[in-house]
Amino acid sequence: MPTIDEYLAQQAATFEEELCELLRIPSVSAMSDHRDDVRKAGAWVQNQFRKLGFEAELVETAGHPVVFAQSPHVPGAPTVLVYGHYDVQPADPLNEWTSPPFEPTVRGGNLYARGATDDKGQMLTHIKSAEAWIKTQGSLPLNLKYLIEGEEEVGSEHLDQFIADNKKRLACDVIVISDTSQFAPGQPAITYGLKGIAYFEVRLTGPSQDLHSGTFGGAVTNPANALVKMLAALVNEQGQVQVPGFYDDVLPVTDAERKQMAALPFNDADFMRQLGVEALTGEEGYTTLERRWARPTCDINGLTSGYQGEGAKTVLPARASAKFSFRLVPKQAPAKIQAALRKMLEALCPPGIKMELIAFHAAPGVVVPLDSPYMAAASRAIEKGFGNAPVFIREGGSIPVVTTFHEQLGVDTLLLGWGQNDDNMHSPNEKFSLADFHRGIKASAYLWKELSQVKK
Ligand code: BES
Ligand code: MN
Ligand code: MN
Repeated sequence: MPTIDEYLAQQAATFEEELCELLRIPSVSAMSDHRDDVRKAGAWVQNQFRKLGFEAELVETAGHPVVFAQSPHVPGAPTVLVYGHYDVQPADPLNEWTSPPFEPTVRGGNLYARGATDDKGQMLTHIKSAEAWIKTQGSLPLNLKYLIEGEEEVGSEHLDQFIADNKKRLACDVIVISDTSQFAPGQPAITYGLKGIAYFEVRLTGPSQDLHSGTFGGAVTNPANALVKMLAALVNEQGQVQVPGFYDDVLPVTDAERKQMAALPFNDADFMRQLGVEALTGEEGYTTLERRWARPTCDINGLTSGYQGEGAKTVLPARASAKFSFRLVPKQAPAKIQAALRKMLEALCPPGIKMELIAFHAAPGVVVPLDSPYMAAASRAIEKGFGNAPVFIREGGSIPVVTTFHEQLGVDTLLLGWGQNDDNMHSPNEKFSLADFHRGIKASAYLWKELSQVKK
């Protein structure tokens, strides 16, 4: 019988082929055309568990199905719930991909495909590590439950209901998610904080149809002019969000935490070079890492109005709309911000314009405790898998289910990210380093051992 490490080495190529198989399924949850592909990816994941002899169900929801699986029961051992998602973001703009998004391709040690890092590749590490235990030791040292959903990229709309309906089945001692990033190549990390989000669309309507901007301009309120003015009022010159009460509940960054962030090997010049920008801006009085990880922000995500075609067209558009979102930090209440924003925009909306404000997904930010024995166990497992002890970081992305788990199950999450910041999550040429894939599997295999030894 090979050891776990030997098995992982023997199976490396097979694991990569299996990941490619999953990546070839275009499970884009946002697009109704891909409904069947999303289900197919869910069924693929379910089959992985079946092949291990786990109980595995593809559970229907009002949206895309949820995969729930369980390893054979080990009495007296701790129970870990692994969460991940098998859905992916849309692949556009397609012409910016070097190789097609759903034809996984290896270049320079990286596997390129939509979903490679977010989250198919990272999620699969926790299945392959269980496989290594089963195939070499005959069983796992603890109880594993898996909840792999197909709606994460569209706001996990039906997951809260599933969790509320299945609290007993989901009961566990600790939760593990790999859907974040390392601090840098060669420097693994455990993420202890994520931002929340409050996402909106505002639609302004002016005259009943597009008008000649010479004949009518200056006399009729232009919805595009109104929109940019309203949006510009959201953030001031100091980078502070102007929604009344926005900072009331913000949990401040402590001096100790600021010190800890400042001690991480990070510099603005390298960061700027990496992104191709010549300057960085943000909230006054905070460093780049503080802004990215611990301060709330506002970004316009899409703007639509008027003539977008070739050349010039002198038009006063009848409509203008924008999608924009706030990233929130712990203690900020999304509902309070939604209400304050609505009031603010209503007051800013000029005469002659009708406004519609749609509130999309909202979730609070989270920080998880650093002093748990599970955190220490995860740290040891990562050191063994990656050859380097992890640093503790926060990130600016959102995984709303972390808060739901805390509220509904009373259990904290370990955010063990195997990705890199330049893996192009949600962007063209998304990738996952194959070395990180295999190190992630190895760290996960050690994680089961380390967590199994934590005294309840
Ligand atoms: N994997 C990301 C979350 C993430 C991104 C964590 C970057 C840490 C760093 C996840 O799939 C995601 O994209 N989440 C959305 C949430 C939204 C749809 C509610 C996000 O952050 O935009
Ligand atoms: Mn993700
Ligand atoms: Mn994502």
